[in-house]
Amino acid sequence: MLKNDLYLRALKGESVTRPPVWMMRQAGRYLPEFMALKEKYDFFTRCQKPELASEITVQPIRRFGMDAAILFSDILVVPQAMNIEVQMKPNFGPYLPNPIRTAKDLDRVIIPDINESLGYVLEAIKMTKEKLDNEVPLIGFAGSPWTILCYCVQGQGSKTYDKAKKFCFTEPVLAHQLLQKITDTTIAYLKAKIEAGCDAVQIFDSWGGMLSPIDYQEFSWQYINQIIEALKDFAPVVVFGKGCGFALEKMAQSNASALGVDWTISPQNARALTNKITLQGNLDPTRLYSSPAIITDMVTQMIDGFGKDRYIVNLGHGILPDIPLENVSAFIEAVQNYR
Ligand code: CP3
Repeated sequence: MLKNDLYLRALKGESVTRPPVWMMRQAGRYLPEFMALKEKYDFFTRCQKPELASEITVQPIRRFGMDAAILFSDILVVPQAMNIEVQMKPNFGPYLPNPIRTAKDLDRVIIPDINESLGYVLEAIKMTKEKLDNEVPLIGFAGSPWTILCYCVQGQGSKTYDKAKKFCFTEPVLAHQLLQKITDTTIAYLKAKIEAGCDAVQIFDSWGGMLSPIDYQEFSWQYINQIIEALKDFAPVVVFGKGCGFALEKMAQSNASALGVDWTISPQNARALTNKITLQGNLDPTRLYSSPAIITDMVTQMIDGFGKDRYIVNLGHGILPDIPLENVSAFIEAVQNYR
């Protein structure tokens, strides 16, 4: 069915001639063709119009030939659907004017009907699958419940997520109610995405590394694990935890198909902490500022470090907006030429 199934084979743990490669945030601001659309349409319009979202999704595939596409959307469409207003302010990032801080705030948070409130994402998936024409698989995604809570309570991005953590530690009952509502919504959402055509799903726990190991289990991992258990029979589930190397051993005992790691852990240590699970990552995104020759060397070293099997080449976090296109080519081609 799929002409290039390297990514799915790596998720199954099958032996491959070279590992698959894609990049977190590959559909985005480093691409001139993305910037052209960004000038005409605001952020959530790009997410909501299936014609635009599907076009942006396939742009990096056409240019670089990654081994998987990731749907252009955002993790914050989920709180939007849960009746929490989310704005994307230019040069500022996400802004939630009415953050969740009290029992009264929590009362207005709903578990939405996915077809009704997020039907546009499902349409975008169907349109993208047509455009991809079975060339490469399509990845669907959602934020982890903890990472979504961070935005819902903090009201914006933060270096510390102090208000989100204060909420968890002073109002744990409310925090767990909010996390469960997000979890239930996310399970229904990802199931619908798989039904609409996504070949695998990735959970982004971008702020898991803000928590201590004990708090991570209580406020993040147990909810991620609920999602894995609910979806594992429908599609492979990949969990990316930024700064979550401390939890890797426990994560590897789950039914996730793969774990994404960032650059603060070496390939060797990530392997030592895990069993046979597929790993994904982990080049420091700022390393793409290096020259193409150095990038090629570092990618080759990284593949040698993880081993070519049960491995998906990626960055350790999203690509930055000012990375030169030829450096992106060097990253992708180093993998395509690996042997
Ligand atoms: O990976 C992809 O190419 C698919 C698209 C994608 C976007 N956001 C598009 C986007 C994905 C997978 C996301 C996930 C996402 N969104 C995460 C998890 C991954 C991570 O980076 O940690 C998070 C935390 C968000 C929330 C978010 N969205 C922030 C903090 C911002 C502003 C800061 C920034 O990076 O620009 C966004 C906006 C956003 N989401 C942009 C894109 C391409 C840039 C804004 C724009 O294009 O107008």
